[in-house]
Amino acid sequence: MASFEPVLTRNFGVENIRSIDVYRAKGGYKAAETALRSMSPEQVVEVVTAANLRGRGGAGFPAGVKWSFLPKDRRITYLCVNADESEPGTFNNRALMEGDPHQVLEGILISGYATRTTTAYIYMRVEFHEQFHVLQKALDAAYAAGLFGRNILGTNFSMDCYIHRGAGAYVCGEETGLIESLEGKRGWPRIKPPFPAVEGLFRRPTVVNNVETLACVVHIIERGAEWFKSIGTANSAGPKLYTISGPVKRPGVYEAPLGLSCRELIFGDAYAQGMSDGKGVKGCIPGGLSVGVLTEQELDCKLDFDDVRKYGLLGLGTAGAIVIPSDADIRQVLMNVTRFYAHESCGQCTQCREGTSWMYKIAARIAIGAGRIEDLDLLIEVSQNMGMMGGLSICGLPDGAAYPIRTIVEKFRDEFERHIRAQEPGRAAEVLRRLNPAAYSLPILGQSRWVGVR
Ligand SMILES: Cc1cc2nc3c(=O)[nH]c(=O)nc-3n(C[C@H](O)[C@H](O)[C@H](O)COP(=O)(O)O)c2cc1C
Ligand code: SF4
Repeated sequence: MASFEPVLTRNFGVENIRSIDVYRAKGGYKAAETALRSMSPEQVVEVVTAANLRGRGGAGFPAGVKWSFLPKDRRITYLCVNADESEPGTFNNRALMEGDPHQVLEGILISGYATRTTTAYIYMRVEFHEQFHVLQKALDAAYAAGLFGRNILGTNFSMDCYIHRGAGAYVCGEETGLIESLEGKRGWPRIKPPFPAVEGLFRRPTVVNNVETLACVVHIIERGAEWFKSIGTANSAGPKLYTISGPVKRPGVYEAPLGLSCRELIFGDAYAQGMSDGKGVKGCIPGGLSVGVLTEQELDCKLDFDDVRKYGLLGLGTAGAIVIPSDADIRQVLMNVTRFYAHESCGQCTQCREGTSWMYKIAARIAIGAGRIEDLDLLIEVSQNMGMMGGLSICGLPDGAAYPIRTIVEKFRDEFERHIRAQEPGRAAEVLRRLNPAAYSLPILGQSRWVGVR
């Protein structure tokens, strides 16, 4: 492959790039003009489909194919731009919105045109204060320039765009939880089908796409499907924003072709440049928390849509890598992971509600030195009996809980066993016998919960 030229981040750091004039001076909104003035919506869908642009929000579903599911005879279409960015370890959407807000808006405009969108809603988590103000200012400028509203760029196409701020719940990043929240209700995911393309926001045909997915559309229109497909690996086309956090020398956001190896992301000179303070790597959760963990020996895994599966991961996810240093206590890692999902489960489905909090309780008692070897098998068993993939839940949150928990337990089982065998003798039995909430409760966001047992 020819040397890689970053496109999504090409304007990052350009002075005043948040101003529409500067963005236009750098060639901005040219792709939108091309699409709206010289292509039909169907032609835009065809190009995006030919480029094999797979969704960057986690599931990797091809964007053009998703758009083609919209009913042909629809009169109203909504585009929900998923800027909830709730996956732990992920901050590429945030970087796009603050680093080049007009690129995001141009992607929304072209994608809105392709899908014949009447109104686009950018659903943004409330914690994104700066990003909200930056994007709102850019949107106001784009409206003033005739890029949103009626008869955009003098064409027959009209589309409104609003930013809606959510209250900051992980499950509101799930597309139907997002839709419910946008409708003013509690952010509870909906049973599918019907899928949003047929019946989504306000029961109308709706497309939900991630911010980065839509930003890619600008460059596909500008440079063509063949250019996009020439980047990345066989089934994983295009550039990707990888994020990396943890005790590395240069945590941050890096653009690279899909298929960058996890080792390169951590140690490469162009990326995080290795561990800080001379630490080693115990493992890495490479795609946002929900995909599962790679051990140090597995770091050559390519971060694309296919290779990750060879390592027992759920998928590429958001490509937000969290590096676990060699001195981390794996019991604390597991407890943090389980606590997150127990807290974020919306509670509608029994397996998810009970399963996530049960796994948290087990992980918590392992962490306080009261674990049993059989707890490790119990964690795996529980993780295998919840989730949408097994038809047991409404949304994918428990699948996302199961993968990190299961892979951490399976891949670091020796370490867990060592800790458990080194425990104070009789401690686990004592905890099981006394079940004293005062002595063994652990804080979960201000509450005290009983570290119970099965
Ligand atoms: C619990 C949960 C949380 C999610 N959070 C996000 C999120 O914050 N941002 C996002 O784009 N997708 C998120 N998703 C995936 C969305 O449901 C949906 O697949 C995605 O927004 C579609 O966009 P894409 O096709 O462009 O990737 C989440 C899914 C689940 C199950
Ligand atoms: S799977 Fe969990 S998060 Fe999703 S709807 Fe059911 S209870 Fe809520």
